[in-house]
Amino acid sequence: MAKKPSKEDFQLKERIKIESDVFDKRTLLNLSRLFKKGIVETIDYPISTGKEANVFRATVPGGSYVAVKIYKTETARFFRRSSYLEGDPRFSKIKHNEWEIVKAFAKKEYKNLTICQDAGVHAPKPYYILENIVVMEFLGEGDLPYSTIEQVGPRGKGDLEGILKDIRGMYKAGLVHADISEYNILQGKVPYLIDFGQGVVLGHPNAGKFLERDVEVILKYFRKFRIEKDFKKAMDYIRE
Ligand SMILES: Nc1ncnc2c1ncn2[C@@H]1O[C@H](COP(=O)(O)OP(=O)(O)OP(=O)(O)O)[C@@H](O)[C@H]1O
Ligand SMILES: [Mg+2]
Repeated sequence: MAKKPSKEDFQLKERIKIESDVFDKRTLLNLSRLFKKGIVETIDYPISTGKEANVFRATVPGGSYVAVKIYKTETARFFRRSSYLEGDPRFSKIKHNEWEIVKAFAKKEYKNLTICQDAGVHAPKPYYILENIVVMEFLGEGDLPYSTIEQVGPRGKGDLEGILKDIRGMYKAGLVHADISEYNILQGKVPYLIDFGQGVVLGHPNAGKFLERDVEVILKYFRKFRIEKDFKKAMDYIRE
């Protein structure tokens, strides 16, 4: 006889209110664990569905919002990007199967967000990590998430200076974002950096190269708006 779905399973389906084939089994199980632990009460709507991760707005039992980022297993891009993990002494022992890599990216993002928090860098506060799921501060106003800087543009030179200051703060804390672009910056009252899964510590052999690339990308973006800063000056400021 088929097993009757438990009350929890039924509630889970109700609470997610999303076609269940969006999530793989393990992710569903992890979401159900988050509900049971009272970390999240409802998953409200997808903010972003990407190749590597889906990000949802969610509500906690107290009624406030959080962002829930769910790393996806189905892409081989993780294998290609595993060089980010390989060189990082914190993750030298991870097994190279897909699920382990996905979990390692989530863990890396959580740890990197913790470093940012401690360093006073503008990035979402990390709240909870469970395997492939990172629960973090919802960056938004009212019901809606902030736009990326790519969508709304910079407000002025202060934005560039704020971003360089945050890159400097990370550097002083021993961290390089390694994927900074206009798509990974949200425009709140100040710019916020997001998407830290590939961030590396300074012990990574390519940390210096990644840092220079981050700075080049950001200077190039602002240059389109005639907001200019010399690359060497920016690097000296970050490293001074
Ligand atoms: N803490 C947050 N608060 C509000 N919105 C967020 C938050 N984190 C991410 N987002 C939204 O989700 C989008 C994707 O997030 P993120 O850049 O971290 O994922 P990603 O790794 O780039 O995913 P993919 O590469 O698969 O697109 C962001 O552009 C932003 O709009
Ligand atoms: Mg991103």
